[in-house]
Amino acid sequence: MNDLVKKLFENKTLSNEEFLTILADNKYDEDLKKAANIRREEYYGKDVYIRGLIEFSNYCKNNCFYCGIRAGNNKASRYRLNTDDILNCCREGYKLGFRTFVLQGGEDPYFTDDIFIEIIAKIRSKFPDCAITLSLGERNYKSFKNFFDAGTNRYLLRHETANEYHFNKIHPNNLSLENRKKCIFQLKEIGYQVGSGFMVGSPFQKLEYLVEDLRFLETLQPDMIGIGPFLSHKDTPFKNFENGSMGLTIKLISILRLMFPYSLIPSTTALGTIHPEGRELGLKAGANVVMPNLSPSNVRNKYELYDNKIYSGSEAAESIELLTRLIKKSGFNISVNRGDVKRTTI
Ligand code: 5AD
Repeated sequence: MNDLVKKLFENKTLSNEEFLTILADNKYDEDLKKAANIRREEYYGKDVYIRGLIEFSNYCKNNCFYCGIRAGNNKASRYRLNTDDILNCCREGYKLGFRTFVLQGGEDPYFTDDIFIEIIAKIRSKFPDCAITLSLGERNYKSFKNFFDAGTNRYLLRHETANEYHFNKIHPNNLSLENRKKCIFQLKEIGYQVGSGFMVGSPFQKLEYLVEDLRFLETLQPDMIGIGPFLSHKDTPFKNFENGSMGLTIKLISILRLMFPYSLIPSTTALGTIHPEGRELGLKAGANVVMPNLSPSNVRNKYELYDNKIYSGSEAAESIELLTRLIKKSGFNISVNRGDVKRTTI
């Protein structure tokens, strides 16, 4: 094994210069992948956890320059699911074997705290053996606390980039890195299993900023880490920017597995979109979660964060058998338990 990779394997961290060296040269990729697989196997064996993704609303009050469901995109065809729609998704998902439901949506003011609390409480009482994950952006401490008390277990809130200059280059000025970080730490303090993450290859990103992302995650010690390549969307200000790199995303999955061996790392839809085998390659590089789409089929093509976002085939929750076969072929097994984080196993 290469010396730098060995150092990362043993110490779970490197100096900034060493991280930059690894990020800049693909000669490390094979060794990183091998080392990441050893770590994943120690903590999670060959298990891959499945999450049913329910995209409950594509209304968003924000205007992130990269995102297809930004408020300013008047070409987006908007929808929101009601409580019964969401419960039906869960029922369907439960039958298919899902024991985690991820409610993901834009920052949609229609969904007040009271509405969410009702939805969460209903899912909690009807599916007591399931984990509930929320991914609905920034809220205040009281809302986060209310959702947790209503029965939510986990929360996903990507920091997107840990470099302040870069954060401001890709977000409108009502959003700040400071507040994003504040929210993420509040979630942790409340007791959620917390997921964060970033886009790879977003406009204006430098390798140095990726090192800052790794450092931010070191201070956070997240339970889940979601990363994916930036993919342009035709109706956004970033429509003419190049997509992020699949190779760099996969390399970062291996690095994250080595830094945070206990963490749950999804092989994301963006990775599956950029390349037909992207998701399998992500799993082989150290990821251990997949999140098939459980939204009603008539809205699936509307949650378009980026062009050509996949939502059919093995990306569709009802095709779980196909997904199971693909995952087996990659050398892994789908686990049907809740798949909570294993922080203390080793
Ligand atoms: N390309 C890739 N990822 C995107 N996201 C939003 N827009 C894009 C895009 N154009 C990611 C963000 C967000 C997650 C739900 O999707 O990182 O946190």
